[in-house]
Amino acid sequence: MLIKVKKGWELPESAAMDEGAYRNRRDILRQLSLAGFLAGTTLATGIGGRMARAAETDPSADLYPVPANSLYQVPERPLTAESDATTYNNFYEFGSHKRIYEDAQALKIRPWDVVIDGMVESPMTLDIDTLLRKVQLEERVYRHRCVERWAMTVPWSGFPMSQLVDIAKPLSGAKYVKMQTLADEETMPNLSASWYPWPYTEGVTMAEATNDLTFLVTGLYGKPVPKQNGAPLRLALPWKYGFKSVKSIVRFTFTDERPVSYWEELQASEYGFWANVNPDVPHPRWSQAEEQLLTSGDVVPTQIYNGYGEFVAHLYDGMQAEFGDRLFR
Ligand code: MTE
Repeated sequence: MLIKVKKGWELPESAAMDEGAYRNRRDILRQLSLAGFLAGTTLATGIGGRMARAAETDPSADLYPVPANSLYQVPERPLTAESDATTYNNFYEFGSHKRIYEDAQALKIRPWDVVIDGMVESPMTLDIDTLLRKVQLEERVYRHRCVERWAMTVPWSGFPMSQLVDIAKPLSGAKYVKMQTLADEETMPNLSASWYPWPYTEGVTMAEATNDLTFLVTGLYGKPVPKQNGAPLRLALPWKYGFKSVKSIVRFTFTDERPVSYWEELQASEYGFWANVNPDVPHPRWSQAEEQLLTSGDVVPTQIYNGYGEFVAHLYDGMQAEFGDRLFR
C-alpha cells in the first residue's frame, strides 16, 4: 500500500506493482528454485513443507477440505500457485513489505477469541473452534484485486458473513459492521511503528455484510488459512480492493456510525470506505485500468466490481450522486 505524502516511513511509489519489477522478482524466484533443484532441495518444497507442517498443527485441520460451492468459480483464470499466494503478502503488522510470511509464523492462533459487540441483542465472545463448528463451511474460488494492481485467484474456505450476522443478532438500528485485527506487540513487530493507526480496522455496511459474496475465510487451498494470509479468520470482499479484506479478526462491532478504517485514517483521499474496484477510476497516483496476475505475470484488463457486478452492483444504486468517484477508491 502506498501513501501520498512521502515521509521517512512510507513506501516509494515505485513499490506499486510494476510489470518489469514483478517479472524480475519471479525470474529471481525461478532461478532460486532451479538452483535449489539442482542442489537437491527446491525453494518451493522448502516453503511448501513449512506451510504443510503449519497446517498440520492447526487444530481445525480435520475440517478441511470442505465442499466447493459451484456458484463461485473462476473458470477463465488459472489458480494462482499456492506458493505465490502464501509468500507474497500484505500484512502490515509484520512489516510493510511483501515477504512477511516467515515473520508471520509467530502469530499465535490458539486460543483465539472473537468478540461480537456493539448494537447486538447480547454481546458475546466466541472461541474460534466453537464458531467454526456453528457455521457451514464451503470452498469458493474468488478473484482478489489489490489496490496496488496485483491480483490473484485462490480457493478460499469459509462461510458467508451473513451466518455470523445471524449469530450476532444485530439490533434494527445497526448500519455498519466494524472489524478489528489482533494487535499483539509481542508477535507483530510493526506495531512498534506508532505512526500507523493500529489496530487494523475495516468496515462494511449491513447490506454489504449480508450480501452472499461477503465471505469469512478460515481456509485456503483446502487447508486452514495460513498465518500470513490472516489466520484464523479473515474477510474476503472480492469486488473491493484487497485492503478491505481485513485479516486475523478478533472483533466484530455492530454500529450506527460509519467506521473509519486503518487506511482511510492514514490517507483518506487514496483509500476510502467504499473502495469498489473500477478500471475507470484511477488511484490518484496510478491507473487502475489493468492488473497483473501473480504466478503467470500476465497483465489483464481490470473489471468493474472485479467482475462481480451481477452480485453487488445493486448495492450502490442511486449512490453515485452522493459519493461520485469515492465509491471506487
Ligand atoms: N489485514 C491486516 N490486518 N493487515 C494488512 O496489512 N493488508 C490488506 C488485506 N488485509 C492487510 C490486511 C491488503 S492491502 C491486501 S491486498 C490483502 O490483505 C492481502 O491478502 P493476502 O496477503 O492474503 O494476499
